[in-house]
Amino acid sequence: MDKITVVGAGNVGATCANVIAHKDLAREVVLVDIKEGLAEGKALDIWQTSSINNFNARVVGATNDYLRTKGSGVIVITSGVPRKPGMSRDDLIKTNASIVKDVTEKVVKYSPDAIIIVVSNPLDVMTYTAFLASNKPANKVFGMAGILDTGRYRAFIANALNVSPKDIHALLLGGHGDTMVPLPRYTSINGIPITDLLAKEEIDKIVERTRFGGGELVNLMGTSAWYAPGAAAAQMVEAIVDDQKRVLPVCAKLNGEYGLKDLYLGVPVKLGKGGVEEVIQLNLNKEELKSLKDSAASVKKTLDVLDAMKLF
Ligand code: LAC
Repeated sequence: MDKITVVGAGNVGATCANVIAHKDLAREVVLVDIKEGLAEGKALDIWQTSSINNFNARVVGATNDYLRTKGSGVIVITSGVPRKPGMSRDDLIKTNASIVKDVTEKVVKYSPDAIIIVVSNPLDVMTYTAFLASNKPANKVFGMAGILDTGRYRAFIANALNVSPKDIHALLLGGHGDTMVPLPRYTSINGIPITDLLAKEEIDKIVERTRFGGGELVNLMGTSAWYAPGAAAAQMVEAIVDDQKRVLPVCAKLNGEYGLKDLYLGVPVKLGKGGVEEVIQLNLNKEELKSLKDSAASVKKTLDVLDAMKLF
């Protein structure tokens, strides 16, 4: 790919650009931020690792200059403020909705054909915001959360069983919030169901820790996480750039799947050069479906806050 843009040179955006560059996913990686010099500085720092880490992707930074993003194939939006201790992701909507709207309009102007991946919080509603602001089809605008949340879930399972996280396959549905729905029934160690390996109470504890995994890090660091969120967004970029047709949990627009519509929510999708090429429907049991509906209801509540802001 010729060019990939990451908007927001904070911790998440810079980490994402760093992973994209390391994987040589584009000839040029453009990092944009509103803070004078920040994107230029971080881009230069990443670029200075190219000879050490053996990559060619040119990494450049720009302060508010969207002309530099012209012709991007994929754009990752990380703009907005992160959480502080005591805040929920939903507390960020008032600040982040107008930022995400503004950034989306600017990037679409210069890269009308780009695929847009949203990372800003509250994730499910910010993805909807970008969709509305972009005037693009929903398969080209979607959000990153499920890979991060399953990354946390898999890390906790790897600890509990003392096995390689690489061998843990897992799925997780729902919004990127405390109502997310990890699915133990769809979790295995290379095919061995975790329900055969861990007691129900242990699984319940892991599920609970996963739900509050972002908050755990906010409490430890005083701000939200970046290594796993940045890497997770870069994995989505890779699936698109290499047309991998990977089956990953992504925040996608639902149109009747799981009995839900007119909202963005985490579901398994097939990810390739067309963006979200398919939303995959699982045969959920009653309890799983109820958890998913509860999660959708919580996202809808935040969507009502967006509606009341009358940005669109
Ligand atoms: C987290 C933030 C990025 O879950 O939403 O860490």
